Amino acid sequence: MDYVNSLFFGYLPYIAVTAFFIGVIYHCIVSDKTIHATSTIFLQKDFFMRFGSPMFHFGIILVFFGHIFGLFTPPFMVEWIMPLELKRMLAIIIGLSAGFIALLGLLMLCFRRFVSVRVRRTSSFQDWFIVFLIIVQICLGLASTIVTTRSSLADYLAFDYWAQGLVWFEPDAWKFILASGIIYKLHIVNGFFILICFPYTKLMHMIRLPLLYPIRSNKLFPSDTTSHKL
Ligand code: HEM
Repeated sequence: MDYVNSLFFGYLPYIAVTAFFIGVIYHCIVSDKTIHATSTIFLQKDFFMRFGSPMFHFGIILVFFGHIFGLFTPPFMVEWIMPLELKRMLAIIIGLSAGFIALLGLLMLCFRRFVSVRVRRTSSFQDWFIVFLIIVQICLGLASTIVTTRSSLADYLAFDYWAQGLVWFEPDAWKFILASGIIYKLHIVNGFFILICFPYTKLMHMIRLPLLYPIRSNKLFPSDTTSHKL
C-alpha cells in the first residue's frame, strides 16, 4: 500500500506537472494554430448558455483560487490573518457554494449541448470526455469537503502540509495524507489526470484566451458575412 500511495501522491504530482508544461509549451510553439475552444455561441445563444456559462466560470475560478490559497499558504502565514479553524470554516462555506454553482452551470451547459442538435453535431469526443472528467472532479471535491465538515482540523491541514512538502521536494510528503479518506485520494488522482489531459483539450483556451483575446482580430465564418470575437 505504501508503494501505491508514494506513486500517486509522491511521484504522480511531479509527472503530471511536467507533462502539463511540456504539453502547453509544445502546443504554444509547435502547433499554435490548433489552440481554440470551439465556440458554439454563434450556433445558439439561449437560457442555458446565458446563465450556465457565467455560473460555471465564476464557480470554477473561485474554486481554483481557493485551492491555491488553501493548499499553498503556510499555516503560520494564515495565522497572521485568521485562526486556522476559521480558514477551515471559510473553505467549507465558500468552497461548497462555489463548487455547487460551478456544477450547476456545467450541468446546464451539458444539457444544452445534448438537446441542441446544432451544438451536439459540433461536439467532439474530447469535448464530452473532458466535461465528464470535470463533473466527476467537482462531485469528488464536493464530497471531500462534506467529509471535511466532520473531520478534525489536523486532518484538514494534512493536505496543506502535503502540497507544501511537494513544493519543497520533501521525499516523504506523501506520508502526510497516508491516512486520508479514499474520496480525497480519488479527487487528487483525477485532478492530476485532468492536468495531464489539459494541453490536448479545449481547456487550453484558459491559457491562450486571456492573453490574446483583447488584441486578436475577429474571426470570419463562411456561413456568415459578419466577423465575431469568439
Ligand atoms: C490535482 C490537484 C487538486 C488537489 C490536490 C485538490 C485538493 C482538494 C481538496 C483537499 C479539497 C477539499 C477541501 C476542503 O476540505 O475544504 C478539494 C475540494 C474541491 N476541489 Fe479539488 N483538488 C485538485 C484539483 C481540482 C480540480 C482540477 C477541480 C475542478 C475541476 C477541483 C474541484 C474541487 C471542488 C469543486 C472542491 C469542493 C469545493 C472546495 O473546497 O473548493 N479540484 N480539492
